[in-house]
Amino acid sequence: AVVHEQKLTRGNGGELHQIAETGTPILTTAQGGPVADDQNSLRAGERGPTLIEDFHFREKLFHFDHERIPERVVHARGYGAHGYFETYESLSAITRADVFQRAGERTPAFVRFSTVAGSKGSADLARDVRGFAVKIYTKEGNWDIVGNNIPVFFIQDAIKFPDVIHSVKPEPDREFPQAQSAHDNFWDFISLTPESMHMIMWVMSDRAIPRSFRFMEGFGVHTFRFVNEKDESTFVKFHWKPKLGLQSVAWNEAVKINGADPDFHRRDLWDAIQSGNFPEWDLHVQLFDQDFADRFDFDILDPTKIIPEEVLPTKPVGRLVLDRMPDNFFAETEQVAFMTQNVPPGIDFSDDPLLQGRNFSYLDTQLKRLGSPNFTHIPINAPKCPFQHFQQDGHMAMRNPVGRVNYQPNSWGEGPRESPMKGFRHFASDEQGPKVRLRAESFADHYSQARLFFVSQTPPEQRHIADALTFELSKVQTPAIRERMVSHLLNIDETLGKKVAHALGLKSVPKPADAAVPTRQDLDPSPALSIIER
Ligand code: HEM
Repeated sequence: AVVHEQKLTRGNGGELHQIAETGTPILTTAQGGPVADDQNSLRAGERGPTLIEDFHFREKLFHFDHERIPERVVHARGYGAHGYFETYESLSAITRADVFQRAGERTPAFVRFSTVAGSKGSADLARDVRGFAVKIYTKEGNWDIVGNNIPVFFIQDAIKFPDVIHSVKPEPDREFPQAQSAHDNFWDFISLTPESMHMIMWVMSDRAIPRSFRFMEGFGVHTFRFVNEKDESTFVKFHWKPKLGLQSVAWNEAVKINGADPDFHRRDLWDAIQSGNFPEWDLHVQLFDQDFADRFDFDILDPTKIIPEEVLPTKPVGRLVLDRMPDNFFAETEQVAFMTQNVPPGIDFSDDPLLQGRNFSYLDTQLKRLGSPNFTHIPINAPKCPFQHFQQDGHMAMRNPVGRVNYQPNSWGEGPRESPMKGFRHFASDEQGPKVRLRAESFADHYSQARLFFVSQTPPEQRHIADALTFELSKVQTPAIRERMVSHLLNIDETLGKKVAHALGLKSVPKPADAAVPTRQDLDPSPALSIIER
């Protein structure tokens, strides 16, 4: 092809393009060189070998060969959208976080919804936990609430995270089942981990098959802290409540939808936002002090427990609106890097051992996945407030310090400096004790809240839980694992345990599992109801 005439024009980014004879911008190499022929590689003779000097061909294949990055080690399948967070009222009395100072102020946000177990190409309606990760680009840096649609978790200590995830993912010898927890390894681990029983009740319930992302709740799970200007702390739990209400599909519906349209949840979000139906969530908080924490029936540091809303009502403090889909899935949804440790001044951590472990894990995994310590230079991860520091170089460095100064203190009077007043001050909680690998007694009751959840369900919902357990455990080949699970269910609800034992065809009902602490029968089921029926 011969370029007859080369005119110059401005592209979307303001850059100058050369114009081909077709009237379109000329295709170039990544180096900007105009390409004459993108259909045929360079050959010695029409039917001869390809020549290595064909730099366009080599660059094109080289780049294609490197297109894939590792998928997330968990939550690989996800879908994101842009929007904003709007503060309802000033919370200045309890937190100095800038995002909560002015009623009506809007702050840009990006959200990624996900499943946990399946790979990037798995189907949307799997029975699974859903990730609900929110990045709020505040004026004091990014705040990430990396939550799920279930308010509790499988394990109490981050050291067990690799085990629970290995157990739910495909088995290492056969590499199946894909995105399906119904297998021996998963139930083997769960049946040996009584602390997972509360989570298992939620995962076997209709909660684990949402109708769409727009009808899903989200939870920060852990107890966090708000800290005000006077360095006073208030404990806080975060909950997202969908304005459309909570809806799920039944298992037989999910199986059909997954077969007919494995992208059902993606399509739903895309269609809703593209047609102007912007989904919204209220951000609710549960606020409490040390005195409440000391009196509460369970340990507020235990991520396998909720604080029922009847015991501690929630309060709406803002709303999240999603109103724009990403321009490019990879650039934004795939490359977004959420991290629990992203908190602005005024929001701080509790000593929840799961949260403490997560604060290490996310930075580590982003380096592996995105390949460079400069992953904050990717636009979706970069703060939207001014930022300046002396970090430099490394792969793909795009924001090196300008000028001579790249350290401090310096006597050149240049560059940024710390601010003891405006900077992040960690809450000075009083921590002391022997260095031990022990779990507190207050973490030992694994059945009472599982029971509370089960008895709070309506009869059809309870039937769905029994059916889900029966289906899942019927895929387990090892009789001892089935029996061990039933022995836990008996501690949660005797009728449920017997029903599942019968449906599985067990010869006899096993003895209930040994419980570290007797299950409490006196908890009022209504508290959990208020969360479930919204
Ligand atoms: C990813 C939530 C526990 C390690 C995620 C994502 C969510 C999430 C929502 C997906 C983020 C995205 O959309 O990009 C949670 C919740 C947990 C929990 C709510 C418990 C309450 C843990 C623990 C660890 C962990 C205990 C490790 C100790 C990871 C890793 C990723 C991930 C490595 C992949 C991150 C990436 O590659 O972008 N988690 N997680 N998570 N989580 Fe967790």
